Amino acid sequence: MTTVTVTDPATDPAGQPARQVLPAEEKYAAELAFLAAHDHGPRPPGWALTPSAVVTFVCGSDGALTLTPARRKGTGLPASLTVSRKFVGERALVERCVVTLAGERGLLLVGEPGTAKSMLSELLSAAVSGTSELTVQGTAGTTEDAFRYGWNYALLLAQGPTPQALVASPVLTAMRSGKVARIEEVTRCLPEVQDALVSILSDRRVSVPELSGTPDATVPAVPGFTVIATANLRDRGVSEMSAALKRRFNFETVEPIADAAAETALVRERAGSAVERAGAAFGVDDAVLDALVTVFRDLRSGRSAEGWDVERPGTVMSTAEAVQVASSLGLARAYLPGTSADALDLMPGHLLGAVRKDDPADHARLLGYWDGPVRRRAEDGSALWRRLWDLRENLR
Ligand SMILES: Nc1ncnc2c1ncn2[C@@H]1O[C@H](COP(=O)(O)OP(=O)(O)OP(=O)(O)O)[C@@H](O)[C@H]1O
Ligand SMILES: [Mg+2]
Repeated sequence: MTTVTVTDPATDPAGQPARQVLPAEEKYAAELAFLAAHDHGPRPPGWALTPSAVVTFVCGSDGALTLTPARRKGTGLPASLTVSRKFVGERALVERCVVTLAGERGLLLVGEPGTAKSMLSELLSAAVSGTSELTVQGTAGTTEDAFRYGWNYALLLAQGPTPQALVASPVLTAMRSGKVARIEEVTRCLPEVQDALVSILSDRRVSVPELSGTPDATVPAVPGFTVIATANLRDRGVSEMSAALKRRFNFETVEPIADAAAETALVRERAGSAVERAGAAFGVDDAVLDALVTVFRDLRSGRSAEGWDVERPGTVMSTAEAVQVASSLGLARAYLPGTSADALDLMPGHLLGAVRKDDPADHARLLGYWDGPVRRRAEDGSALWRRLWDLRENLR
């Protein structure tokens, strides 16, 4: 009898369940271990790295960093390593974020959707605390328990309120262990729920009245504890946060990527790795990616690269969305090679999918962009824009 071994695509070669996305601390574990060994300045209490190593982790190193033989001894670390740039943007912004956290103040990252607020919060917490997983996702249904604690009802009924029956929230766990708690989309939570954070950030302790009279009646925050929250400017306003809560955070605004070439390079890299993860080669030309990013930037800013006015759609034309469209073009080339001449032919259809989301008038705005900048570039003699102009029919 022959035995057939079937490899389960849901497990990796070690038999572990595979994961679609690894948390930053696992994805970049080698860089974090290297930086911990490399940098030996003073660290704020509870920090896994020095503040300057945290900035290097997020913004990348200028060339390769080297480890002395003494520091490498017995660690299994390489002699040198170049730390990759993960966040594309102002280094000064990242430095301000790190200083805020070093002072154990709350950090609130605000900005348009898709500007890498969540990514930055994940990278910072992974570098500072070694974990990015103490996270609360704010929604209209988030209750105070998500910031404080709940109960295991079976144990509560059997034993009454005991420390064992208490279920700590990610924020309470971060307080106990001196780590960074992440609160995503804090402004989506109801104001009275947000206000639970005021006392946590000022008193730095949570009281558990059900355990009063026992040593567990108060959970104090240990050094290192702080909070990184994110808020999307398109959601219910940051302005609606209570003044008391606002005062407990340092606000940092994360802007879309300023430089076109840097944005194109990021889109190429992220879309390329998405397609390579699918086991295929990334078959989208640089010229097509340039055009795609140009369209996104023009529609986002309301002004073309040449300075012509463009009517902005209601949808945010974020870098994250540009990565999605570029990945779709790459995946279509990889999986459906026979159906289309090249990625450029597919671009209008995918763009329409990205633009036409909230407002039906956005379709007309995209057509207006075609009749304006796309046509003018075609008339100026660019072969690529000429082909895009000829594909206007695909926007119907
Ligand atoms: N400045 C940037 N540097 C690096 N990557 C970026 C940048 N801007 C956007 N991206 C890309 O966009 C993706 C999405 O970012 P992320 O989800 O963190 O955005 P966000 O600001 O939290 O959006 P939302 O407001 O919708 O939650 C990132 O994973 C990355 O691929
Ligand atoms: Mg986010």
